[in-house]
Amino acid sequence: MTTQIRIDAQARIAAIDDRIYSSFIEHMGRAVYTGIYEPEHESADAFGFRQDVMEMIRPLNLANIRYPGGNFLSGYNWLDGIGPKEDRPVRPDLAWFALEPNLVGTDEFLQWCERLGTSAMLGVNLGTGTPQSACDLLEYVNGTLPTQYANLRRANGHAKPYGVKLWCLGNEMDGPWQICAKTADEYGRIACESAKMMKWLDPSIELVACGSSYRTMPTFGTWEKTVLEHCYPYIDYLSLHQYYQNNDGDVPSFLARSVEMDRFIREVADITRAEKARRDSDHDVFLSFDEWNIWYHFQSEGVIPEKWTFPRAIEEERYDGADALLVGCMINTLLRNADVVKIACLAQLVNTIAPIMTEPGGKAWVQTIYYPFLYASRFGRGTSLNILIDSPGYACSVGDAIPSVDGAATLSKDENEIALFLVNRSLTQEQDCEISLANLCAMRVIECVTLCGFSAGSRNTADTAPVHPAEFHHYASRDGTLHVNLPAFSWTMIRIRIDTLAQP
Ligand code: AHR
Repeated sequence: MTTQIRIDAQARIAAIDDRIYSSFIEHMGRAVYTGIYEPEHESADAFGFRQDVMEMIRPLNLANIRYPGGNFLSGYNWLDGIGPKEDRPVRPDLAWFALEPNLVGTDEFLQWCERLGTSAMLGVNLGTGTPQSACDLLEYVNGTLPTQYANLRRANGHAKPYGVKLWCLGNEMDGPWQICAKTADEYGRIACESAKMMKWLDPSIELVACGSSYRTMPTFGTWEKTVLEHCYPYIDYLSLHQYYQNNDGDVPSFLARSVEMDRFIREVADITRAEKARRDSDHDVFLSFDEWNIWYHFQSEGVIPEKWTFPRAIEEERYDGADALLVGCMINTLLRNADVVKIACLAQLVNTIAPIMTEPGGKAWVQTIYYPFLYASRFGRGTSLNILIDSPGYACSVGDAIPSVDGAATLSKDENEIALFLVNRSLTQEQDCEISLANLCAMRVIECVTLCGFSAGSRNTADTAPVHPAEFHHYASRDGTLHVNLPAFSWTMIRIRIDTLAQP
């Protein structure tokens, strides 16, 4: 099977915002306790955080980590998580039916981010919380004045403001499962008033308002329109969340879900543009895809732990080969939509629907989905290029002609390198790709890495890794065209050195 791929170094979609390589830690399952934080672990640092886990997070080069939820956020009183640990209350967490000991809170998390060299994206509780409690947290975190909560932060040992720039106005407030869920009008009003107050207190921040919890919510579309009508001038981003499933084992349809993700992004972008036009505004509201991943394995395979335990080990997805390829396609989708998606968080980071897993008191290891994210985050930066792919199509539940090959192309910030990220969705057929690069004078492949040779159901464990990257040599340059033989059912990254960019 032959696929034609054309990339033009001058056909640019947009600069890639580094924040599309962000992730998420929620007080959920073992993400925090025995995930990132385990004082008894042999690798724990002076603050009780596992350094073996930090060493797996660092290469992901995350721009932001969203915290503390998620659904947890809507019942969280941030005051419970600051000050001397022995004085902090244990609370029932109504989002995940677990006990929350509050041993990790805002200071511990933000200081962990500082040690990791990443920034935080903090949420304010608009479930049980109020615009005032949102402002109080902002004052605690970023306050520079001699005021109560800024002084409390100083008294708790952090004289310098943390300077957190990115804030979420609640979480999934349209969902009936949410603590104190709201109608679009109710949410729009509280988000608007919180946003006004927060920006008066700290005009340097950027705010994300809640879009729909997922594309198939019955109120999708009207929710976005109503929220924007209330908030548009005061917010900077609207959120999208989506997790995909493969419950029926229909792998071709599962791998095509990124086509739905693409449509979803375009629909929400159209809604934001329409509101901008209606207001005749100069202000842009971009998209924050702040929860995306695959999530279904645990629901059918996992052992659901007793309620009101700690830590309650829920939603520990064991990702497989098919999941790695769909994650690759989802990242490609984010890259191709770099003009509108400015923030994206792989949800989540450790143990709970996560690329990194830990054993309490034991090893840390990485799942199949870690690798496509790792390589895209390392090399898929700079500018997203327009990529034209003419590939044999297949019919499935998502569409009649899903391209067998999915791809994205990026031009590095120094404009010396193009990176191509290709997924061959076909379970059985190799793809001979003829890749032509327009407006380039000279080119040379400097690295080619693939994930291939596994089955849809292959999983990594603490001890084995059937899905792992390997060098790939099945390519050749002929007459200015690059020929790459993509293995069936594979993800591949090709880095191409450009010697001179031709002038348009
Ligand atoms: O990421 C897990 C959960 O999924 C989050 O708490 C919630 O926002 C979403 O429904």
